[in-house]
Amino acid sequence: MSDPAVKTASIKNTAKKVFIKTYGCQMNVYDSERMNDVLVPLGYGATDRPEDADLIILNTCHIREKAAEKVYSDIGRLKIIKQKRHDAGQDSLIAVAGCVAQAEGQEIIRRARAVDMVFGPQTYHRLPDMLKKIADGSKSVIETEFPTEDKFDGLTSKAGPKRLSHGVAAFVTVQEGCDKFCAFCVVPFTRGAEFSRPVSQIEDEVHQLVKAGVREFTLLGQNVNAYHGADPLGNLVSLGALLDRLEKIDGVDRLRFTTSHPRDMDDALIETLAKNKAVMPYLHLPVQAGSDSVLKAMNRQHSAKEYIDLIAKVRRAIPHLALSGDFIVGFPGETDEDFEQTMALVREVTYAQAYSFKYSIRPGTKAGDIKDQVPEEIKSARLARLQELLLEQQLTFNEKSLNQEFDLLLERQGRQDGQLIGRSPYLQAVHIEAKDHKIGEIVRVHVDKVGPRSLSAHIIEQ
Ligand code: SAH
Ligand code: SF4
Ligand code: F3S
Repeated sequence: MSDPAVKTASIKNTAKKVFIKTYGCQMNVYDSERMNDVLVPLGYGATDRPEDADLIILNTCHIREKAAEKVYSDIGRLKIIKQKRHDAGQDSLIAVAGCVAQAEGQEIIRRARAVDMVFGPQTYHRLPDMLKKIADGSKSVIETEFPTEDKFDGLTSKAGPKRLSHGVAAFVTVQEGCDKFCAFCVVPFTRGAEFSRPVSQIEDEVHQLVKAGVREFTLLGQNVNAYHGADPLGNLVSLGALLDRLEKIDGVDRLRFTTSHPRDMDDALIETLAKNKAVMPYLHLPVQAGSDSVLKAMNRQHSAKEYIDLIAKVRRAIPHLALSGDFIVGFPGETDEDFEQTMALVREVTYAQAYSFKYSIRPGTKAGDIKDQVPEEIKSARLARLQELLLEQQLTFNEKSLNQEFDLLLERQGRQDGQLIGRSPYLQAVHIEAKDHKIGEIVRVHVDKVGPRSLSAHIIEQ
């Protein structure tokens, strides 16, 4: 018979449910996991059904207009769920977090009255206080202050929440915010000034994750290669040096980092990429456009040639590197000739994988009120051509993996029985039949089949 006292305790512990929906970038994925960590000691268990949730958090993204609008249509649907639960005698709270919350603050509650809480990316460690205010009778709570330090101090202090793991590969934010002010981008406004976490905080978090079974760590930052956190002696440590320190922690098998900016790519980081065995041969280095006049208007602070030369230098050090990037087509004033220069740059550089977007006007940014907008049909046509070229290059990169052997970290279940999916060193998704192997193992595989978006392989004995 089960011990009734223990049973009551466990029911009490997971009596409340939280549903978190994450939009946008990996940093939001990290933030959502940490919100969960903050809520566990308050007795919240996770649910993937908003209908069952006492607390619904939308962790939002403001990077493009569509991303922000989607939040409001999701709130419309959740309002109905909230009303139904209320009619059945169950209350629920709706919270808007993340970059839309930061950018729009109060306006969200004015536009969507079903929302109870609005908090930005730098304040969610205060969730216990915010929930208490609501429990004590506040109609709504809005918290959108900076700075970033407070958040990480709150999340890492001895009294702070434990870092729970959600798999065998985890994100760890090491740098946040941005001082670059690209003319199209909201990030400096939603995430604030650039800030690097101290080395010991990051090491502590990595130790906790190793204990929880994580083997691969992706260090995150809006400009991760601008990292310059202090070590315990107060000396500033670069990203390359941080990666070298983390590699020495027992249990850290693989390291990645994203996103890097071309202006902050120093020789020490290139050397770490080339020599540190745990650092995977993958670099996400966005260029956005191939025309110098567009790059200047975007305030990217480098020319196309400087980017091309930088990639050549990185490839001399790591010839098999998988390069990834981001592109924006249809920035205000972009001509056909400018766009052809983006196509030419892609043909010259060649990417293993890349993300590309149509320019989206963001209020408050430097480009937000430029009148000379590129018509929607032209943006769509340019994006289609660019994506066709990028997908071709992705297939060509994957084809080079055919019959190659490499180590694969098994990360998750595949669709078919017995199938597991892992990531290659180059971040390709690889499917294998793995009857005698488990998630979390690193296995040696031989690639049998390649497609544009994934590979198939079989395990080989070593
Ligand atoms: N810090 C990273 C990227 C941050 S945002 C960097 O500096 O590269 C991720 C990507 O979204 C950007 O690289 C850019 O390609 C895209 N993006 C940002 N603002 C945009 C906008 N207004 N319209 C379209 N795409 C945008
Ligand atoms: Fe945005 Fe530019 Fe900063 Fe990247 S570097 S986050 S694109 S402002
Ligand atoms: Fe979006 Fe904010 Fe990330 S705007 S891309 S969630 S930093």
